[in-house]
Amino acid sequence: MENPGLPQAAAPLHGMFTAVPPRYDLVNRIITLGQDRRWRRLAALSCLEDRPGRVLDLGCGTGDLTINLARLAEKNVEILGLDYSLPMLERAREKAARAGVKERVDFMHGDASQLPFPDGHFDAVGISFAFRNLTYKNPLRAPHFAEVLRVLRPGGRYVIVESSQPENRIIRSLFHCYLRAFVKPMGILISGNRAAYRYLAESTVRFYSPREVREMLSAAGFRSIAYRPLLFGAAGIHVAVK
Ligand SMILES: C[S@@+](CC[C@H](N)C(=O)[O-])C[C@H]1O[C@@H](n2cnc3c(N)ncnc32)[C@H](O)[C@@H]1O
Repeated sequence: MENPGLPQAAAPLHGMFTAVPPRYDLVNRIITLGQDRRWRRLAALSCLEDRPGRVLDLGCGTGDLTINLARLAEKNVEILGLDYSLPMLERAREKAARAGVKERVDFMHGDASQLPFPDGHFDAVGISFAFRNLTYKNPLRAPHFAEVLRVLRPGGRYVIVESSQPENRIIRSLFHCYLRAFVKPMGILISGNRAAYRYLAESTVRFYSPREVREMLSAAGFRSIAYRPLLFGAAGIHVAVK
């Protein structure tokens, strides 16, 4: 479903995410040392933990979390991926068809600051590697949190898989070196998109610690916030309840 009336040219980072898709998945595999697939699967399992009837993959990109949800969920669960980048959605639809889950999922064009759903519509909202984009230096951070809260039913889960900050200072320094010395040049080389991978590396180096994310979620109105570090804390999964 497309939603061409959106004021997207003005939306933060929109231009970057319409340019990224061609090699997006390949770069993800390489820079996470192949771990991103396992992390999204864990996030999908967490989204499905309370046997939801309806799940949203927010900022679904090329659809990897959505496809995981479709593979793991019971047949009656409604699964929807939403993104404001049409090229990302196009790839997501192709991939869902190739994965044999085309009939199980819907993809929708929309903006996280104005979600096109009624209050309490979803039992779970999952977000994989788009939370940083919606929060880090994003002027629409507060509306992004407010919209997730609004579309979740009371007791619904917000599952966030995202890069993080390792607690150990030495591991954190190594991780930051890796981002600047390997991820940035490798991303630029493979994708040809200098701005996108400079942003990725710098925003990841400066991104919030698990404690700061917890405080943000709590200030936004979520409760029962839990965190699980992945790969020595280079990434992690936050679960928060409405
Ligand atoms: C880094 S990608 C992650 C994509 C995918 N979830 C994954 O796991 O690979 C971030 C995605 O969030 C989308 N996005 C960023 N800001 C958005 C917004 N305000 N509304 C909807 N989608 C947004 C981008 O278009 C992009 O597809």
